[in-house]
Amino acid sequence: MLRIRVLHGPNLNLLGTREQSIYGTLSLDDINSTIAKLAKELVVKVDIRQSNHEGELVTWIQEARTGYDGIIINPASYTHTSIAIRDAIAAVSLPTIEVHLSNIHQREEFRHRSCTAGVTLGQIVGLGATGYLLALRGLHEHLTASRRQKKTAAPATARRVAKGTR
Ligand code: DQA
Repeated sequence: MLRIRVLHGPNLNLLGTREQSIYGTLSLDDINSTIAKLAKELVVKVDIRQSNHEGELVTWIQEARTGYDGIIINPASYTHTSIAIRDAIAAVSLPTIEVHLSNIHQREEFRHRSCTAGVTLGQIVGLGATGYLLALRGLHEHLTASRRQKKTAAPATARRVAKGTR
C-alpha cells in the first residue's frame, strides 16, 4: 500500500474563518475528510498533519524518509521564505507536490516566489480544496508508474548481474 504524508503549514488551521473570500469556507477538517475519503478509494494510506512551526514541518518532512512514498505539502506563508523547508524536501528526495488553495501568482508580488517549488514534482494553485485531491491522484499515479517501472526493470538487472556484466 502506498503511503503519503500530507502537511499543512501555518494558519491553515484557521481555514473556514480565515479570509473566506480568498480561501473559501471549508474548514481544515472538511478538507482533510475529503482527502481521507479519496485516499480510501485509491487504497493509499495518508497521514495528515498541520503545524504553525517551521521546524516541526522540517522534522515531519525528514521523518517521512522512513515509511512514506511521497509528500503533499501546502507550506502556506513558509512557501515564500523557507529555505529550511526547501532543503528538507530536497534532502529526503521523496516525490513531493506543493498545493496552494489560492493562485499565488495572481496575488501580491511577495507570494509569486516559491522557495519550495523548485524541488517538487509539481505545484497546484488556485483550485481550492480540489488542489489537494488532484495532488493525491497525481502522486498516486506517479508512484504507481514508478513502482511498475522498477518491477519490470528488476529482472533485466538481475540477468545482467548473473552474467557478470554489471
Ligand atoms: C497559501 C498561499 C500563501 O501565500 C499564504 O501565506 C497561505 C496560504 C494558499 O494555500 O493559498 O497561508 O499557501
